[in-house]
Amino acid sequence: MNSAEQKILVWDAPVRVFHWLMVLSFAGAYLTADSERWRLVHVSLGYTMGGLVAFRLVWGLVGSRHARFRSFVTGPAALLRYGRSLLGRQPEHFVGHNPAGAVAIVLLLLSSMVIVGSGWAIYNDAGPAWLARLHEAASTFMLVVVLIHITGVVVASLLHHENLVRAMVDGQKSGTAQQAIRWRWRPLAALMVAAVLGFWWYTWQGAPAGLVVGFTGSHVIVGAGRVPLDENVAG
Ligand code: HEM
Repeated sequence: MNSAEQKILVWDAPVRVFHWLMVLSFAGAYLTADSERWRLVHVSLGYTMGGLVAFRLVWGLVGSRHARFRSFVTGPAALLRYGRSLLGRQPEHFVGHNPAGAVAIVLLLLSSMVIVGSGWAIYNDAGPAWLARLHEAASTFMLVVVLIHITGVVVASLLHHENLVRAMVDGQKSGTAQQAIRWRWRPLAALMVAAVLGFWWYTWQGAPAGLVVGFTGSHVIVGAGRVPLDENVAG
């Protein structure tokens, strides 16, 4: 931090809420992918990812300064310059996302769109059989990008002596007063959380067999209750 630098607000609340809900949704959807029993949880988390990414695409156009795509999606020249600055052990500091991080972010958003689109088509029997392979391949690809992304975050935090994970929690990074964003946009973030919780509640209410279907041998567990196996609870 040079003398003109101080802790400033960089990430608005919707970006932070988007991020941690994405982490939760992707991790949950990935872990429940192979189980028939957890299918509705998997699908609901996938749709949640879809909604989050749709929000982020809009926020990338109209959101606060460092959330906008044009502030961090750069060409190969900026990426090369950043790469060279890393090799030269004098890493360029960015108040928003650095160019390498930005590549990972774009890949994460694009792979989410492929995963959600193909998942929706498979779940609704609305596409060719190869969509299932695409869905799986895109999920594996996204997992790899997530792991690279986490490694990048740790490395960049060490290089810049700045805890980027904490910044994604409290929104603060080091920069000059002119680089700060003015608004936190908390009401919008609260609305996002309410929309996601509302969607999960609605899905739970509307699910004929509860969100998680389990079998105990003689009974099917539906939501909070149990129904004898001879009743057709699957609807
Ligand atoms: C499922 C896993 C994850 C996904 C899908 C994901 C996705 C993303 C996305 C899309 C962004 C851009 C945020 C924006 O501008 O809206 C981002 C940034 C960020 N993520 Fe993640 N992330 C994941 C896991 C993690 C984890 C586990 C950590 C903590 C170790 C983390 C830390 C960060 C940080 C610190 C940034 C800001 C990077 C910067 O300062 O440029 N992410 N992530």
